[in-house]
Amino acid sequence: MPVDNKFSQLNRKAYNQMASRYFGERGQLRSDVYVRRFEGVLPRQAMVLDVGCGAGVPVDDYLIKKGHLVTGIDISETQIQLARKNCPRGAYFVRDLLSLKDREFQVDGIICVYTLFHLPKENHLDLLRLFSSFLSVGGKLLISMGVDDFEGEHELHGERVWSSHYDANRNRELVQMAGFELLMDKVDRTGNEEHLFVLASKM
Ligand SMILES: C[S@@+](CC[C@H](N)C(=O)[O-])C[C@H]1O[C@@H](n2cnc3c(N)ncnc32)[C@H](O)[C@@H]1O
Repeated sequence: MPVDNKFSQLNRKAYNQMASRYFGERGQLRSDVYVRRFEGVLPRQAMVLDVGCGAGVPVDDYLIKKGHLVTGIDISETQIQLARKNCPRGAYFVRDLLSLKDREFQVDGIICVYTLFHLPKENHLDLLRLFSSFLSVGGKLLISMGVDDFEGEHELHGERVWSSHYDANRNRELVQMAGFELLMDKVDRTGNEEHLFVLASKM
């Protein structure tokens, strides 16, 4: 997969700067209903990979309390420090998604919320295929994606970040092209943002 470190490094610096501000306002994003749907289709004591885990709250904290074994990866060192503090029973590693290798993880479920849009959209299909390689048939994916076509720099919690995404129809297609069956897809308009939430099962 081509690696565009320019965007990764801009976002890494931004999240290192704004991690505590983002954490303070994370409650405005209403991912909880989708995370509960994801949790409901996981086996007991599932191994879950949280891709772009941020500070680990609320997602990993919830999954760990439900008895699952969570590994989180994120490009921001500050986010990983927060996640280790917030979720001492999780395992956390600083990683750029663009550096992940096929089958590097083997898990029962992958959750990737509010993160894919920070990667170049030309890489989204390859990233979805990579996630598929981490799952066995029947493994579950919860991912949030864009609802419109966009690419560019913008402000987030006082920092400049870079985002890139396709529209909702293209995003549904990408998930299917990567070998997943859609179990649920919903455009979420709660809070100030719009996201397509997709729950999918590896075929
Ligand atoms: C909006 S936050 C979402 C965090 C968390 N998933 C949540 O639900 O609160 C986006 C996260 O993606 C991470 N991120 C951005 N680009 C990344 C990359 N190339 N590789 C890994 N993580 C990345 C950021 O550091 C940040 O923690």
